[in-house]
Amino acid sequence: MRILHCSDPHFDLSLRTIPLRKWFGKRAIGALNLLGGRGRYFDDADEKIEDLVRFKEAHQVDLVLCTGDYTALGLQAELESAAELIAPLAQPPERFITLPGNHDIYAKDVIHSDAFWQYFGRYMHTDWPQYTVDGIWPFVRLFDDYLAVIGVNSAKPNPLPWRSDGHIPPEQLEALGRILADPRLKNRWVLVLTHYAARLADGSPDTPRHGLRNADEFLEVCRVIRRGAILNGHIHRCYRTDLSSEGLSIDLFCAGSVSMEGRECFWLFDIDRDSMTVRRGVYDWGEYRLLECRPECQEERPRSDYDTISQL
Ligand SMILES: [Fe+2]
Ligand SMILES: [Fe+2]
Repeated sequence: MRILHCSDPHFDLSLRTIPLRKWFGKRAIGALNLLGGRGRYFDDADEKIEDLVRFKEAHQVDLVLCTGDYTALGLQAELESAAELIAPLAQPPERFITLPGNHDIYAKDVIHSDAFWQYFGRYMHTDWPQYTVDGIWPFVRLFDDYLAVIGVNSAKPNPLPWRSDGHIPPEQLEALGRILADPRLKNRWVLVLTHYAARLADGSPDTPRHGLRNADEFLEVCRVIRRGAILNGHIHRCYRTDLSSEGLSIDLFCAGSVSMEGRECFWLFDIDRDSMTVRRGVYDWGEYRLLECRPECQEERPRSDYDTISQL
């Protein structure tokens, strides 16, 4: 199977169309953030997704995974617009899997209104409902007889504007442990998706204000995975982190942002029963393309040193 992992499109809905009554608290600060210049990095996100659809079709991608942060402020109007913009990439819907980023559930009322679920729930189906703790999480998708994709939710509202940290609820981690112990996963590649990065490119944890608070517990649960990967976004740089020094057999892949001006990137996985190869996608001259493949790309678990990583 050929799998495209992208993240953090941050579609920029024109601020003029956002109802003023929705501007309050942290959202107002987020809006100011956008007005202050952050938004301009994502000005062309909608056109770039069209370019990514062309890449997907040209390269016969079988499955697309997106690890969240579709919006800036998590407003209902933004989520509705983002769902429309992502729809061409999410065809057929059963071959698109996603979960929310922190920007998609910026404030508690989005959670309570189930707005993300309303627009993106169709891409968060589970094949094993018996393992969910709330009817949604963790979700498990099985493909052929050799691949499983599991999603856990690490995004949460952050009422304090200077914080953007994440957390995987302990019940989900416990359920993830039970899923990974299911003998039906024994011979499958396992991809675990979440929005927050458990580790940075150099293997260190992210800061308490920006990172995954229970990253150590999450990695502990993932230690039983023999082959596969942890996939996340949130940090707007593509990088690959070797976790073997922490006793894990799998690497972590951050898909950065698929649309951020000057940093556009994604990962392309080719997985069959016996092997997994990974290549990095970039954007230039108006199109997405794969980086030139170095010799190590042909190895089963190639190492990537394509980028010098710094945290956004
Ligand atoms: Fe983001
Ligand atoms: Fe994020």
